[in-house]
Amino acid sequence: MKVLIIGKNGQLGQSIKKIISLGNIKDEYSFVGRSELDLGDSENITTYFNQNKFDIIINCAAYTAVDKAESESKLADQVNHLAVKQIAEIAKQQGAKFIHVSTDYVFDGMNYKPYVETDTVNPQNIYGKTKLAGERAIQEIMRKGATIIRTGWLYSEFGNNFVKTMLKLGANNEKIKVISDQIGTPTYASDLAQAIVGIVKSKYLQNKEQQTQIFHYSNEGVCSWYDFSKAIFDIEKIACKVFQ
Ligand SMILES: NC(=O)c1ccc[n+]([C@@H]2O[C@H](COP(=O)([O-])OP(=O)(O)OC[C@H]3O[C@@H](n4cnc5c(N)ncnc54)[C@H](OP(=O)(O)O)[C@@H]3O)[C@@H](O)[C@H]2O)c1
Repeated sequence: MKVLIIGKNGQLGQSIKKIISLGNIKDEYSFVGRSELDLGDSENITTYFNQNKFDIIINCAAYTAVDKAESESKLADQVNHLAVKQIAEIAKQQGAKFIHVSTDYVFDGMNYKPYVETDTVNPQNIYGKTKLAGERAIQEIMRKGATIIRTGWLYSEFGNNFVKTMLKLGANNEKIKVISDQIGTPTYASDLAQAIVGIVKSKYLQNKEQQTQIFHYSNEGVCSWYDFSKAIFDIEKIACKVFQ
């Protein structure tokens, strides 16, 4: 199987690369970043896939700057929606399977129990709206062959994330304020990467009749950002005090 990972420099892209390098993987994985495949440029996407064909396309790239997306909505929509739509069209035309990663931001966050795949979506910001538009485009174009994985609160040894920010803040401050009114499930990107590599090898994906489906993936447990930062400092024995 020829497998393409889009977003090689992101947390998840790098985590998949790590999992592949550790395991006994027979599939042929290619990794591309923005310089090889720019999701902001539809012509570049067309040219790239005219020259390269895959059995499975996995999209780990996204416009992930949640706050900045409010002022860069056109770019966020291009990367999270229009490029995803274009890749779905290409995957369908080339007969490739498509695995796409989405977000808990498609929900409004008002649930007091874990979200399930069939819960009603209601994104509250541009990032969530563009990611949902990407999901919907895939579902419209590919009735079969696509897999959408929603996750949340990713952290890893790679790139930027909450754990790394806290480690830096904790090293440079005696006390910091962290909000406690948002709860979620921190999810280690390598665990999600392992799950994705598992899907690539699964009977589910090898089935030609595989219906397009949405799955939720996270680690277990629940905490607030405040709880999470306290746990990070406890584990790393950082003396910085956390208050709400
Ligand atoms: N991080 C989270 O907490 C979280 C939560 C829920 C869902 N997700 C979803 O999980 C997936 C992986 O997230 P992540 O944390 O690994 O994200 P990340 O670390 O922010 O990486 C995103 C990658 O997308 C690439 N990218 C952005 N614009 C691009 C463009 N125009 N063309 C090509 N590549 C572009 C970036 O490239 P550069 O390196 O060149 O900037 C970056 O490597 C995304 O779909 C995200 O929406 C993430």
